[in-house]
Amino acid sequence: MKDNIVILSYNLKQLSYLNMNIFDNNKIFKLIAEVSDENNFETYVIGGYVRDIFLERKSKDIDILTIGNGIDLAKKVADKLGLKKVAVFKNFGTAQLKYKDLEIEFVGARKESYRKNSRKPMVENGTLEDDQNRRDFTINALAIGLNKENAGQLVDPFKGEEDIKSKIIRTPSDPLVTFSDDPLRMLRAIRFASQLKFKIEGSTFKGICEMKERISIISQERITDELNKILLSEKPSTGFKLLDKAGLLELIFPQLTLLKGVETKEGIWHKDNFIHTLKVVDNIAKTTDNLWLRWAALLHDIAKPATKKFIKNQGWTFHGHEFFGAKMIPAIFKSLKLPLNEKMKYVQKMVLLHLRPIVLAEEIVTDSAIRRLLFDAGNEIDDLMKLCDADITSKNPEKVKKYLTNFQIVRQKLKEVEEKDAIRNWQPPISGDIILQTFNIKPGKEVGIIKNAIREAILDGLINNNYEEAFNFMLNKGSELGLQPKR
Ligand code: CTP
Repeated sequence: MKDNIVILSYNLKQLSYLNMNIFDNNKIFKLIAEVSDENNFETYVIGGYVRDIFLERKSKDIDILTIGNGIDLAKKVADKLGLKKVAVFKNFGTAQLKYKDLEIEFVGARKESYRKNSRKPMVENGTLEDDQNRRDFTINALAIGLNKENAGQLVDPFKGEEDIKSKIIRTPSDPLVTFSDDPLRMLRAIRFASQLKFKIEGSTFKGICEMKERISIISQERITDELNKILLSEKPSTGFKLLDKAGLLELIFPQLTLLKGVETKEGIWHKDNFIHTLKVVDNIAKTTDNLWLRWAALLHDIAKPATKKFIKNQGWTFHGHEFFGAKMIPAIFKSLKLPLNEKMKYVQKMVLLHLRPIVLAEEIVTDSAIRRLLFDAGNEIDDLMKLCDADITSKNPEKVKKYLTNFQIVRQKLKEVEEKDAIRNWQPPISGDIILQTFNIKPGKEVGIIKNAIREAILDGLINNNYEEAFNFMLNKGSELGLQPKR
């Protein structure tokens, strides 16, 4: 078996510009090759894992293809590894093993044909070439032999290696057939273009434009999965612009396309909020990998179309777009099948607060305004400041300089006030229980009134954020309400 490894790594090293080799996961490939030879399975590594070797990207998903029964091979490999669990998907003819941090999927080579209204194919056994031919892109159709006689040999009938080198996404067969068979591939093409910084070849892109309506048969979960991957790419605007250009964006995310366009009245125009939003997303992508902060950037101005007004002598306004935008988030998350949990609340909070530091930066920054911002943003204050930095997209260098300088002042103040008053994770110094006991009263509206008054007094700087001052304030407020402390 040792010979096999030598051949395999040797052949791969021959592939130009390739530094990394398949033997990053040496042991498992050696074992699969051994089991295949012993049991007469013709076996290949195929798909994304091979593409990623060329791209020098580490991948934990391995697809193994055999000419025959993939499930049988998986079981034999599992036996050899001493694994008890093999996940078998009989309907798809696939089986999956987990080994260390790897997910290895086994499948028999197949030919597929599709019905008009489903992306579930009718499957027949096929040759290696049939199988490569049914795949989405040439860059994903590369296979490397694992058996002794062809170990390490690249099987590349569609010039996928060349396309990787020239950074091109192209379907191996007629794009209309490839996309009609599985319309999710239209989004995958655009996602790969965004993720890998590849170009989509002309007739392939034309195919997407022609087939775009077929996206309707794809589940929302899969669509959103691709949107998330686009958002997580280095320059997400690439993906969103392609989605728009292909006409897919208005089908899968119409709210975003409403941001497009510039209107002029009385010689006054407003900026194109689609272009602005995409710039903000690209900016934030430089400073965070947090998917939800990137979603917040994408949605921060989502209510601008709904709140747009032209006011004489003032120009275009979008008053309240942050409140309205925050209100729109649950419905958008629901329609995109994004989680309706604390992630959604986080995005809502970011959208709601995204103007606050800007407003602060434009005014004289008072301690109490800073305390209120810290109180409202809590632990998310740093993320909010990142979003605000990203939101500066003006082409006017003077304006940009002014904002950045003012944000520095706001940041400095945030630090000072936080050190002094510890508002960020604010816990009221006086609890509801203390109020009940002090005045010997039953729960009722007075408790809420007193608690609010204490909080406001602290945020306004009337009293300091400590027990003693808050206790005295409570006594005074109680007495205004006609309450006496119990003796
Ligand atoms: N594939 C396909 N059509 C699809 C999905 C996948 O032809 N709609 C094929 C491709 O050959 C792909 C392989 O199945 O390389 C494995 O798919 P998957 O693991 O989903 O994608 P990867 O290409 O590995 O990339 P990623 O994990 O980034 O999605």
